Amino acid sequence: MRLRPEICGERLLRRLSDFAEIGRTSAGGVNRQALSKEDRAARHLLADLARARGFKVFQDPIANLFLRREGRNPMRPPMLIGSHLDSQPTGGRFDGALGTLAAFEVLEAVEDQGYETEAAIEVVAWTNEEGSRFTPGVMGSMTFVGAAHPNDFRSVVSGEGESFSQELTATLAALPEAIMRPLGTPISAYLELHIEQGPSLEREGLAAGIVTAVQGTRWLTVTFSGSAGHAGTTSLAYRRDPMVAATLALNRLQMSIMPQDDDARLTVGRFSAHPGSINAIPDRVTFTIDIRHPDASTLTAIDASVRATCEEAALSQQCSVGISTSFDMPPGWFSKVMTDRIEAAAQALGLPYKRMISGAFHDALFVARVAPAAMIFVPCRDGISHNEAEYVEPADVINGARLLLEATLGCML
Ligand code: GLV
Ligand code: MN
Ligand code: MN
Ligand code: MN
Repeated sequence: MRLRPEICGERLLRRLSDFAEIGRTSAGGVNRQALSKEDRAARHLLADLARARGFKVFQDPIANLFLRREGRNPMRPPMLIGSHLDSQPTGGRFDGALGTLAAFEVLEAVEDQGYETEAAIEVVAWTNEEGSRFTPGVMGSMTFVGAAHPNDFRSVVSGEGESFSQELTATLAALPEAIMRPLGTPISAYLELHIEQGPSLEREGLAAGIVTAVQGTRWLTVTFSGSAGHAGTTSLAYRRDPMVAATLALNRLQMSIMPQDDDARLTVGRFSAHPGSINAIPDRVTFTIDIRHPDASTLTAIDASVRATCEEAALSQQCSVGISTSFDMPPGWFSKVMTDRIEAAAQALGLPYKRMISGAFHDALFVARVAPAAMIFVPCRDGISHNEAEYVEPADVINGARLLLEATLGCML
C-alpha cells in the first residue's frame, strides 16, 4: 500500500525560523535582498538541505534555483512548486520564504514516504522577485519564460551603485556544485503558496485563498527638472522649482486616482531631490510611482493620466518632466484546471477557502505564460506585509503546506 505523504509541521516551522535568521533585522524582520550575500547564504542552505535528501540541484543563467526529486518517467516535464527567497529591505519572514520552504517540505514529505510520482517534482526559488534592490522585480520568472534575457539587465545598478551583473555572477559562482541548465526547461505545471499580504482571509476566517488572477502593475520613474538657486535670495517669480511641480502633480494624482476608483492603487515609495541641500532650490526631483489595477485598459488610462498631470504641473512651474517605465506586468488569469484542482484539495482537507484576485504581483503570473499555473494564499496577521512585523500563525503555515501538498499531488494525476 502506498502511504500518503504528510507534512511535518514542526520541521517546516523550524525551517522558517532558521531561514529568518539569514538577514534578520533588529526589529525581527528580514533584509535579504536579491543577490546579496544574505540571499546567497539562504540559497546555499536550501541547496545543502536538498543534497542531504538526495535531490539534484540546478541553477539557470539568471540564478533561478531548482531542487529536483525524480519521478518514474524521466521524459515527463516536472511539476514545479516554489516561490522566492529574496526580501524587501525591511521585509518579513514569510513573503517568499513561506512558499519556497513549504514547497521544499512537500518534496521532503513525498520523499519520507518513498512516494513515487510519474513526473519529477521540482522546487524553485526564483531570482529577484522583489525588485527593491535591482529593478524590475520577478526577473527570474520573466527570464525563465523568455519575456526577458539576462543581457537585458546587464546595465542595471542598485540605488547604492552595485552592479546587477557582478552580483549575478557572484551568486552563480557561490553554488559551484549546482548543475547549470538552460533557461526555460519545460515544466508541466506550476503552483505557488504565498501569504495574502492583505487582510481579507484573516477577517473572513478562511484558511486559504485560491488565486484566480493577478492585477496589473506598472513602475514609472518621474524626473522633474528646473533650475537650482539660492533659497534665501530667489523670489518666487524667478524660480523654476521642480519640487513645487512634483508635489503639485502628486497631490493632484493622490486626490484623483484612488478616491475615484476603489480598485486603483498609486504609491510613491522613493523620492529624492538633487543636489539635496537644505538651502538650495533643487534642480532635479525624482520619484517612483507604482500603479496597479485589475483591468488592463484602466491601468493604461491611469498611466496616461499620470503623464498628463505631470506635464501640466511641470509647465505651470516652467519646469520639464521625463517619465520612464521600468516594469510593466499586465494583469493575468490563472489556469481554471489548476484552480479547480486546488479547490478539490481544499475540500478534501476540509479547509474553508474562497477564490480571489491577488493585489501583489508574483512569479506565477509570468510562469502562467508557459504552463498551467495557480496560487494559494494563506492569511497573515492584520494583512501586514512588506513590513518587518509580518506574521503568519503556525496553524496557517501548516494548513497552507498541507493544501500545497494535496494540490501538487492532485495536479500530477
Ligand atoms: C511584489 O512584491 C509586489 O510588490 O506586488
Ligand atoms: Mn513575495
Ligand atoms: Mn514581496
Ligand atoms: Mn511579491
